[in-house]
Amino acid sequence: MTDYRRGFESLQHEVYEPALPVEGDLPDWLTGTLLRNGPAQFGVGDQAYNHWFDGHAMLHAFRMVDGTVEYRNRFVASKSRQEALRQGEIVRSEFATDPCMSIFGRVMSMFDPQPTDNASINVARLDDAYVALTETPLPVRFDPETLETAGVVAFEDDIDVDTSTAHPHVEPETGRTLSYAASFGRPSEYKILGVPPGEATRKVVARLNVDRPSYMHSFGMTERYVILSEWPLVVNPLDLLLRGKPFIENFEWQPERGTRFRVLRKSDGAEVATCPADPAFGFHHVNAFERGDEVVCDIVTYPDASIIDDLYLDRLRSDAPTPGTGYLHRYRLPLDGGSAPSTLQSEERIELPRIHDGHATSQPYRFVYGVGTHTPGNFTDQLVRMNVETGTVQTWHQDGTYPGEPVFVPRPGGTDEGDGVVLSVVLHPTEERSFLLVLDADSWTERARATVPHAVPFGFHGQFFGAPTRDS
Ligand SMILES: [Fe+2]
Repeated sequence: MTDYRRGFESLQHEVYEPALPVEGDLPDWLTGTLLRNGPAQFGVGDQAYNHWFDGHAMLHAFRMVDGTVEYRNRFVASKSRQEALRQGEIVRSEFATDPCMSIFGRVMSMFDPQPTDNASINVARLDDAYVALTETPLPVRFDPETLETAGVVAFEDDIDVDTSTAHPHVEPETGRTLSYAASFGRPSEYKILGVPPGEATRKVVARLNVDRPSYMHSFGMTERYVILSEWPLVVNPLDLLLRGKPFIENFEWQPERGTRFRVLRKSDGAEVATCPADPAFGFHHVNAFERGDEVVCDIVTYPDASIIDDLYLDRLRSDAPTPGTGYLHRYRLPLDGGSAPSTLQSEERIELPRIHDGHATSQPYRFVYGVGTHTPGNFTDQLVRMNVETGTVQTWHQDGTYPGEPVFVPRPGGTDEGDGVVLSVVLHPTEERSFLLVLDADSWTERARATVPHAVPFGFHGQFFGAPTRDS
């Protein structure tokens, strides 16, 4: 097992490479830009961030045209990063790092709230704006060509929320962007917010009062409904104010509560079903669709929330095994509100799941792409393609390398769900390099790879934008 830990070391270099060395042949139709996000600086001065989710966001752009790959990387110039660099210490609280541990400090911060804008989780396009996202409601706009930061997006509304998912959905039929958000207080609320195309005003699609909010990283969407998976990892909102702990450490695992799926109707915000299920935890909804009198909801889950603990940096950098992947489960949610049974879709492990966005979204579908585990206990060391109808799994593995989230790119004009390529940034620690891997999706074989002049730290999510991000 080569050392995946190289992926948790900081990368300070910001480079522009007009043409990466390419082996193999890129499809001639592959034109567009893969924008990826992830942490790239894991400490400031002599202070270290605690968790993989806490490091300073860096954007990476792979621009593909005429068989060439242009590459650029740049830190997001968030206030969180700029203040920390200026002061030589961590200033703002992150997911699992809180520099302000005294109760006095916490109370003061309520009067002068400074939620982090360290947008390290995902990227998205909100109308014509390219934004970096994290779990605070502060999307950071950037230039897709230069990756220069333009500042936090100012929504033209007065909706107040404390957290927001980094996994919005875009309704294929309307182009509307739907997000899950939460506000903490008395009462706390889950909110589903919608932004129509061309607008900068969020509208409340649904809202639910909640006594003990659950930590939910993503949510599900069908044509008519949104689905919240209320895992039994919950917080007393007062603890966020008073306990002086980093954000996620205020949440408690209470398996006796079980999981509750909340099915909310988009048209009027009504909760049409509340479906209990066994206790579980998950980060990533994969897809959901309506079938007769039920909603089918596919999610990568774990038996409990200890995966969050497994992703602290001291654990990841230790010799302990790193089970950084879960299992794909299918939940069937009866619309009359009965309990939701789940079935294991594959014995193969998976995380960072992706589908053919738009084509498969909210529809019965076949293919899920993700990172997986080739060697038990190793960090993500293979790519998987699961057929959820047949249970067939294809895997890609190269000894000593560590692939990141695979992003599916459809072939223009293709009608089959699996017709296209998959793009993944793969870490090769012994070569001190990463490379962009291009796999043919159907045959699951390598088409090409383009080598980056440095090792890219493990990131989270990215998107491919086929429309030109600049005039060429
Ligand atoms: Fe995520």
